Amino acid sequence: MAAAGSAVGLGNIWGFPTQTASNGGAAFLVAYLILAFCLAYPALMAELTIGRHGQANAVTSLRAISNTKSQKQFAFIVGFGGIICAGLILSFYAIVAGWMISATLEPIATLAGNQPITSWLSEQSLSRNLIFTTGFIILTVAIISRGVENGIEKWSKRLMPALLSILFALIIYVMMQDGAMTGLKAYLVPDFSSILNPELLVNALGQAFFSLSLGTSVMIIYGSYISKKENLVSLGAYVTLIDVFIAFVAGLLIIPAMYVAQAQGVEIFSSQGELLSEDTLVFQVLPALFDGMGTIGLFVGFAFFALMSIAALTSSISMLEAPVSYAVERFTLDRIKATWLIGAIITIVSSTIVIYFDTLFGFVITLTTKFGQPLLGLMCCLFVGWIWYRNSLLEEIKQGCPGVANSVFWKIWPWYIKFICPLAIALVFINSIFG
Ligand code: PHE
Repeated sequence: MAAAGSAVGLGNIWGFPTQTASNGGAAFLVAYLILAFCLAYPALMAELTIGRHGQANAVTSLRAISNTKSQKQFAFIVGFGGIICAGLILSFYAIVAGWMISATLEPIATLAGNQPITSWLSEQSLSRNLIFTTGFIILTVAIISRGVENGIEKWSKRLMPALLSILFALIIYVMMQDGAMTGLKAYLVPDFSSILNPELLVNALGQAFFSLSLGTSVMIIYGSYISKKENLVSLGAYVTLIDVFIAFVAGLLIIPAMYVAQAQGVEIFSSQGELLSEDTLVFQVLPALFDGMGTIGLFVGFAFFALMSIAALTSSISMLEAPVSYAVERFTLDRIKATWLIGAIITIVSSTIVIYFDTLFGFVITLTTKFGQPLLGLMCCLFVGWIWYRNSLLEEIKQGCPGVANSVFWKIWPWYIKFICPLAIALVFINSIFG
């Protein structure tokens, strides 16, 4: 449940619908589903297995399966690269999570009748973004440094049903509004001719890896916390299914809601048919929907954004855990000190992104999610496929899943991860560079 909590977050409700809307709707959905199940799930299995075998942070776990000196150096590059990637992701993630928190507080300010605070909370400003970004990082640090992350499983367990219930209730509401059917069509009826568009494929791959928290060493660490009694194969499948399902359902709400908002006069597309504001799309479309509900919309808006903030928190905790567990194990640092120190560094990076938003925000997202995550995920596949001895790999997966040696999974996966995954990921990249 903690791994699912890491996977389900802003990637599902902010990233996925935004990407779908700006990459041609249903064609993106189809590419995303294929890539999530065929490339991201096998890569997730690779990371979870490396972690459970190594019982330690990403660098140590990757080193444990390396045999030669150069492989151990490669292990350091991949493990440490993932840790840096996780830190950079947290730096932009905290900004969006800060927007979620201000959207949670806004209905309270409206109910209290405080107009100046309501407008401050709802409009983009340097002061608002700096305060909420820092606040969100402090919250993440406080939870990790107190070791309260033990409770994270309980939170994730409650979060998923609550999130799904509110999403379904809102979908029913949206479907009754004017314009929803046009949106539903855009989301579900693909234009197959654009599925092989190189840009669309590379974006869908990045989104799938981002959504499953891959290539950041996070799933290696979470793997190291999984008991040897658990069945890794089905556990990885559940995490993938929950994550993809929640993203799909979020799209079912947000894409039609965009068209409903447009029918109500909110400007969503430019005259050329392009999205006007990608990053803040969700924050325009959903409040417009809640406004249309009258006073009850204030409560719905509060509940929705509060749930989103919790979902962001269960993900950010996993991101911070990546550098913290490395620092604690490698430098035998005190956990509390390490957490605050790394939290401070991330706050500085995040604040710099907030200040130079137009230049840095999109750049850091592209660097980490489009390139960093798929490429580091690919290297984890190479580790499992080419470096880890097959017998030792089988021994690891057998624990908690004794019959695995005769399963379809074991017949396909090791071979698949050795050739198909690296080749397919490389192809998507080559295609996007030369396509
Ligand atoms: N998977 C998370 C989400 O969808 C984001 C994340 C990325 C978490 C990388 C950890 C590491 O919101």
